[in-house]
Amino acid sequence: KTYRIATIPGDGIGKEVVPEAMRVLDALAQLDGGFQFEWDILPWGCDYYLEHGEMMPEDGLEILKKYDQIFLGAVGLPELVPDHISLWGLLIKIRRGLKQQINVRPAKLLQGLESPLKNPGNFDIVVVRENSEGEYSDSGGRMHSGSDEIAIQNAVFTRKGTERAIAYACELASKRSKKITSVTKSNGLSHSMPFWDDVFHDVVSKYDELQQSSAHIDAMAAYMIMKPAEYDVVVASNLFGDILTDIGGAIMGSIGIAPAANLNVEREYPSMFEPVHGSAPDIAGLGVANPLGQIWTGKLMLDFLGHEQLGEKLLSAIEYTLKSNIKTKDLKGSATTTEVTDALIAYLKQS
Ligand code: NAI
Ligand code: MG
Repeated sequence: KTYRIATIPGDGIGKEVVPEAMRVLDALAQLDGGFQFEWDILPWGCDYYLEHGEMMPEDGLEILKKYDQIFLGAVGLPELVPDHISLWGLLIKIRRGLKQQINVRPAKLLQGLESPLKNPGNFDIVVVRENSEGEYSDSGGRMHSGSDEIAIQNAVFTRKGTERAIAYACELASKRSKKITSVTKSNGLSHSMPFWDDVFHDVVSKYDELQQSSAHIDAMAAYMIMKPAEYDVVVASNLFGDILTDIGGAIMGSIGIAPAANLNVEREYPSMFEPVHGSAPDIAGLGVANPLGQIWTGKLMLDFLGHEQLGEKLLSAIEYTLKSNIKTKDLKGSATTTEVTDALIAYLKQS
């Protein structure tokens, strides 16, 4: 079997870490023997914008629809292209255009990682974030002017969209430690969050085996720092999930390792796998970017393609490099991007 992957390295360190993750995934496919990857490199991003005046071709979404999945590095060249152009012209366009309505972001204290928390415990959280509606809607506007000016930003929650996110999270929780936490704010937001709570109640009641709880976003932000090991699957709206996943990256010790997936769970269109971090212009071109975020993102793609066992193998290889202290600078090590990948692949081949 051949998986055709639309590969968008993008900008900055995206161009450095994507080829590294490709090497790792190719090595795994070779070990497995049952499938291979075909990587089509699409040179979209800010360089493309500077040449063509757009981040990707007009028929970009149509091109992407022909692939099995999308593997993306990062976009952003803030000195030459404003961030709202690079973000809306590519990332958000793909997420929305291909209905990637679920964002999955693990935060797990891998062996060998040093959390900045004093007592992190052995945390292993997956945040499931609704990725297409909620607080990030186009509805609203500004009216009047001067001291009478008003800005209105509506949040739009549909039953279908909310159910989809919560149902995905419940399925995931029942495959993991059977614990699910819904993040809400029904004391302050009097329409959308009571609605969210109702939908959560309806969906979760179909899963007898799940241990369920709810927490308000403000409290949850504190709990993620005070007692992250008590949580497993956390389901949240677009804005709340955005906030919690940045905390997730922070408590792991570096944003350079945090992985993410934008899923089209119905599999009508390809899903997009991209690490949490951006193009890191401050270290681009130096060969010191941490490739582990992109590589762990590759594990999420393997999982989604149904190769969970290989995904586990990949995660232990990542832990091997960390435990062996083969780390890049962001993790207080001195290894280069390539050295980390080389060590990881060597481990995979002999294990
Ligand atoms: P950033 O994630 O690129 O960098 C933040 C800090 O983390 C920097 O000090 C950077 O050196 C470090 N860092 C990030 N990834 C690393 C890695 N793999 N290894 C070692 N260190 C790493 O975020 P920033 O600086 O806010 O944004 C830079 C550009 O990236 C902007 O144009 C922004 O819009 C874009 N961006 C793109 C994203 C995407 O493509 N999904 C996500 C976030 C930002
Ligand atoms: Mg964010």
